[in-house]
Amino acid sequence: KRVVVFISGGGSNMMALVAAAKAPDFPAEIVGVISDNADAGGLAKAAAEGISTFAFVRKDYASKEAHEATIFEALDRLSPDILCLAGYMRLLSAKFIQRYEGRMINIHPSLLPLFPGLHTHQRAIDAGMRIAGCTVHFVTEGMDEGPVIGQAAVPVLSGDTAETLAARVLTVEHQLYPQALRLFAEGKARMEGGRAVGAETS
Ligand code: GRF
Repeated sequence: KRVVVFISGGGSNMMALVAAAKAPDFPAEIVGVISDNADAGGLAKAAAEGISTFAFVRKDYASKEAHEATIFEALDRLSPDILCLAGYMRLLSAKFIQRYEGRMINIHPSLLPLFPGLHTHQRAIDAGMRIAGCTVHFVTEGMDEGPVIGQAAVPVLSGDTAETLAARVLTVEHQLYPQALRLFAEGKARMEGGRAVGAETS
């Protein structure tokens, strides 16, 4: 399966997918990385891996539609089977989501449906959670609410700050996302009737 990864920043999740895809039995290859941020650190990392990279900066376009139209042109050339959002900090239009629904997944740094949106780690700490974690889910029109493919949990420790918790969650993100992409690329997890059906991530 051909995979294009969308990033906005350092791309550590993207690099975890790149590393996993090097395994000979991995059912997907990363064929492109697209960012909305020309300075995203992940672009240089992907380029160093020989992966095609593209930066499409929103402010360079007159409208969201024009911005997405350019992304669509790049995607038409890359012909991906799967899109992976990985630290991509921009909401996609309904048109974009409809075009890729069932083939587009995202990683979110909370145990959805808890804490959709931003600042998830501080919110978990403020809520007194004793566990936190991350979720890989299908992207649907609502933000951070698509069917869940897999989740990973970590303890919230006394004295945790948003930063210490984020670092602990990021470690399991890098394990979960490749597992979830493998399941999805192998056809073991898929979206059906608005739900994710198929094998469980370990
Ligand atoms: C991670 O916490 C991820 O869950 C969120 O963006 C953060 C940065 O990801 N979506 P990355 O290092 O750019 O992959």
